[in-house]
Amino acid sequence: GWTTSSIIDDTVAAVRAQVGDGRAICGLSGGVDSAVAAALVQRAIGDRLTCVFVDHGLLRSGEREQVERDFVAATGARLHTEHVADRFLDALAGVTDPEAKRKTIGREFIRVFETATAAVAQDEHVGFLVQGTLYPDVVESGGGSGAATIKSHHNVGGLPDDIEFALVEPLRALFKDEVRRVGRELGLPEAIVGRQPFPGPGLGIRIIGEVTRDRLETLRAADAIAREELTAAGLDDSIWQCPVVLLADVRSVGVQGDGRTYGHPVVLRPVSSEDAMTADWTRLPYEVLERISTRITNEVAEVNRVVLDVTSKPPGTIEWE
Ligand code: XMP
Repeated sequence: GWTTSSIIDDTVAAVRAQVGDGRAICGLSGGVDSAVAAALVQRAIGDRLTCVFVDHGLLRSGEREQVERDFVAATGARLHTEHVADRFLDALAGVTDPEAKRKTIGREFIRVFETATAAVAQDEHVGFLVQGTLYPDVVESGGGSGAATIKSHHNVGGLPDDIEFALVEPLRALFKDEVRRVGRELGLPEAIVGRQPFPGPGLGIRIIGEVTRDRLETLRAADAIAREELTAAGLDDSIWQCPVVLLADVRSVGVQGDGRTYGHPVVLRPVSSEDAMTADWTRLPYEVLERISTRITNEVAEVNRVVLDVTSKPPGTIEWE
């Protein structure tokens, strides 16, 4: 059969044959696909690969370190980071409509990625762009179903328009579980390899209302607690993903100690799914819900209420925006 190590050997050989003694660039998102694609190409061509990471400030707690520290330590890859959280916050000021947010984040992302890529490509003559396209993506985009777009999707590594690259797609023949196995065999951090789906626009579409620095901090703290408790309860494999959503424009009255609070709710959105096209809300154990709720309301000052989303997809989408 096709073992993981033979997949790695064959892919590395194919990348070497394609790239020759050329140079390549790869955008990292913090997710598994781009990380495994980059690690394979790194193994094939070493320092002739430059990875580009756009730190837009919309990632979850710990994810920047997973890329900048742990991914680099595991692969030895050359990494160029663009620290552009302020730029994204400026662009998002006053933006509350979900599609406008997605378009703003997507547009800024492409601009920053293009600038970073042009800077690297200028000194080095980079001819190849690595993308983490999986087999199901290949099939889907070839299918031409003509289905209406429900939300504009944005993925890291969108192809810059005015720079000419040949595409390197080392995951084109693989399914997600194979990508994870390859990543583990290549020694990538489990936090990256096992990461559940996370949207390209990141926490920006999990704050209902305007995205601000303070709101991001609040959501990041609540999300980290939910993830910690789900992992501690051994539930990572039984849920597809669990967005935590901050209702930033909603306030409700609470009481803590002797004091009245007037804080924000967060929504837990645990879902079970095969492919994210349809989903069911996950019946999490009450004890786990209780721990998440108690910890978030104790540890995150701005949040005084935790609510549970019990809507399937359809009619609800998984994300709130
Ligand atoms: P929805 O909300 O449409 O989400 O039910 C379906 C799946 O897609 C993820 N998602 C995204 N992934 N870029 C991505 O890479 C995006 O813009 C995006 N929007 C949603 C979502 O987390 C879920 O897994």
